[in-house]
Amino acid sequence: MEKKSVISIKKSSFTFMAESNLTLLDAALKENINLPHGCKSGACGSCIAYLIEGNIKSEAAETTTISNTILLCQSYAASKKIVLEYPIDKLNMIKMHSKSKKVINSKDFLLQVVGNKSVTPLIKELSFFVPPKLNLKFIAGAHMEIYTNSNDISKKYSIVNSPGKLNNLKKNILKFLITKNDRKGISQFIHNEVKVGDILRLKGPFLSFQYSTNNNKPILGIAGGSGLSPILSITRDMLHKNIDLSIMLFLSVRNREEILEMDTLHKLKEEYKSFTFKIALTREKPIQNSQFLFGRVNSSLQKIFKDLSTHQILIAGSDKFVETSYEHVIKLKANKNNIFYEKFTRN
Ligand code: FES
Repeated sequence: MEKKSVISIKKSSFTFMAESNLTLLDAALKENINLPHGCKSGACGSCIAYLIEGNIKSEAAETTTISNTILLCQSYAASKKIVLEYPIDKLNMIKMHSKSKKVINSKDFLLQVVGNKSVTPLIKELSFFVPPKLNLKFIAGAHMEIYTNSNDISKKYSIVNSPGKLNNLKKNILKFLITKNDRKGISQFIHNEVKVGDILRLKGPFLSFQYSTNNNKPILGIAGGSGLSPILSITRDMLHKNIDLSIMLFLSVRNREEILEMDTLHKLKEEYKSFTFKIALTREKPIQNSQFLFGRVNSSLQKIFKDLSTHQILIAGSDKFVETSYEHVIKLKANKNNIFYEKFTRN
């Protein structure tokens, strides 16, 4: 007989049993506890949860790199008792879906492209019309998988929009920022082939970027290039919910041509006194008295902050950008438990 463990989710009444041959995700789903998930193969990151107590065996190569996060679809119970935790908004989503017995399976959408314009030399803004009857709901910071026409390649992209009340999509337009890279793949497909009017398959939304909304800590959002998408989505959402929350958004790009969403950032600054932003240019020569910072994240951040011990930090960008930023905010005394991140892999 397979050994059973008791799994509970902190700050909720959810408890379920897991046999040692079932992943924690499958064990929860078996008991109609609809924990967030997507691919079930360790690729999409949607099933991330915090391991607070107990031990797991994991099939994931890298599950607990810079925080105590684990992928539930790759984890098996290795102790009698295990305690997991989710940020409060994700927990609310789980409660909502589990109560209504709806499975949070990611859905497939066929959506029409209504915009695919270059916003920098390397980045396109891709937009889709989402008919209201599709009832697309998401949490700020979520991502979708976008597929090529032949449906053989997909890649996750964070949603730039912020959700409205009840997690619905405002204005029915879903926006993504797509960075072009040298490899043949989805980004080249979007940059070279996708036209307005095309219909593409999208799957999601997935809830991979975890962060906390249940405290009033000042927020520092650090974005590298198109990593701005989830940071902007979360920033706007948090400001709508709490206009007094102090938020600074730090965007790192190579040069002026690569600056993204400048209008949006200025509008947010006008609208919310508690919001500020800084843009750091990594490949331009420093100019005195400029509105910009110059240099990489490690040198630029310390010009603004000496002590991040009271901040919640959100980081999004390439693997390397996230790792460098993470190391640097730790040097500036940030608390590991208050650092949340989303890494983008290339393809
Ligand atoms: S469902 Fe676990 S990583 Fe995709």
